Amino acid sequence: MIKPQIRKDILARGKPEPKNVPWWGEPNLGGWYTEAEIDAAVRAIRKSNDWSTGFGPNAKEIEKFENAFAAYCGTRYAIAINSCGTGLDMAIRCLDLAPGDEVISPAVNYKAAHLAIVGQGGKVVFCDIDSRTLNLDPEDVEKRITRHTRAIFPVHMNGLPAPMDELLDIAGRHPHPRYGPLKVIGDAARACGATYKGAKVGSQGWLTAFSFYSSKLMTTLGEGGMITTNDPAVAERLRNIRQFGGEDEWGSNYKMTKVQAAVGLVQLNRLDEMNRRRREAAQRRCKILSGTAELILPYEPPNCEHLYYVYSILVQPDWAGEKRDKIIAIMSEKFGIVCSISNPPTYLRWPYIAEKCGVPRLAVSDDVGRRLLCPPLHPLLTEEQELYICASLLEAIDMIKAGA
Ligand SMILES: Cc1ncc(COP(=O)(O)O)c(C=O)c1O
Repeated sequence: MIKPQIRKDILARGKPEPKNVPWWGEPNLGGWYTEAEIDAAVRAIRKSNDWSTGFGPNAKEIEKFENAFAAYCGTRYAIAINSCGTGLDMAIRCLDLAPGDEVISPAVNYKAAHLAIVGQGGKVVFCDIDSRTLNLDPEDVEKRITRHTRAIFPVHMNGLPAPMDELLDIAGRHPHPRYGPLKVIGDAARACGATYKGAKVGSQGWLTAFSFYSSKLMTTLGEGGMITTNDPAVAERLRNIRQFGGEDEWGSNYKMTKVQAAVGLVQLNRLDEMNRRRREAAQRRCKILSGTAELILPYEPPNCEHLYYVYSILVQPDWAGEKRDKIIAIMSEKFGIVCSISNPPTYLRWPYIAEKCGVPRLAVSDDVGRRLLCPPLHPLLTEEQELYICASLLEAIDMIKAGA
């Protein structure tokens, strides 16, 4: 907790640098670069500057990055691609969905997963979540399985691994009549490097897609992605889809560039350090905010390592909706701190998803959507910046209590 007088002093000093830009709930750069990334990029460009070499094809850097990523996650295969969004499209394509086939996915999510299902002609079956973890609730998943269910599609929400053992158990106990055990496909855009019961996210399930977009835990020059799998047949198929379908498959161009892969290798080597700093920043915030009656701080189950891709707070139920929105407005307008809401149910946030997938109104998801509040977190936040963020949040709460 910050004592009221100290909070007043922090806020009286004003916003620390950088003053004149908003501090976003999801900062635009998730990690950071060192000279090593810059050197790697320059080397890769220099190596390509020859008409007999160029930037491709089959650059060694890409193969090295894939092998290193597979070894890091503990999987047999890793396929480098140009984004996680396209990776999710590719993953769902590999299900070969027929009309009416269903894929179960949590409503509290980014829209990429649901767009991928819609894009491949499948039916999104929204499931509810556990409000403590913001991950999908296995009991609710099991209730939604029908003979049309083809896959379970968890997102490792905000850096916390989904309950994979429970999901794999459910998938095995409810085989599809034609395709066998349900496939489990993970969206790990926000969870690169997270661990679940000692195993890296991406080592379990059929396929897992990662994002290296600028704001993510590591980035390959602003865009990029990876898919991991232990299944050799689907690994080969994904490589074909990535490169115009190989000989006998549909495909397009989803490739990562050689320069991105060279930078990705350096970022991967530094990922654990960046994630450690991020966890330390989150733990420092938990200490500062602990004991604030109006807030429920992020939960880390004992067997998981949460990476706090965003720092997700729930306000207490009597602060849901308008009062939560007021906290966000005061923090933004008065203090220049922009909290994200990561994420309300996709059917409430995006009209296109509502139109295509329906609006089931799931009790926990809807409630969480009215109570979430994610102040900016970055591994490099200084103590001064951190105290300012926390002070502005506590001040906003007190202003509302005083009638603001
Ligand atoms: C959960 C989730 N899935 C998928 C994506 C899409 O990733 P990309 O930008 O690499 O396509 C994002 C964010 O960008 C995300 O947060």
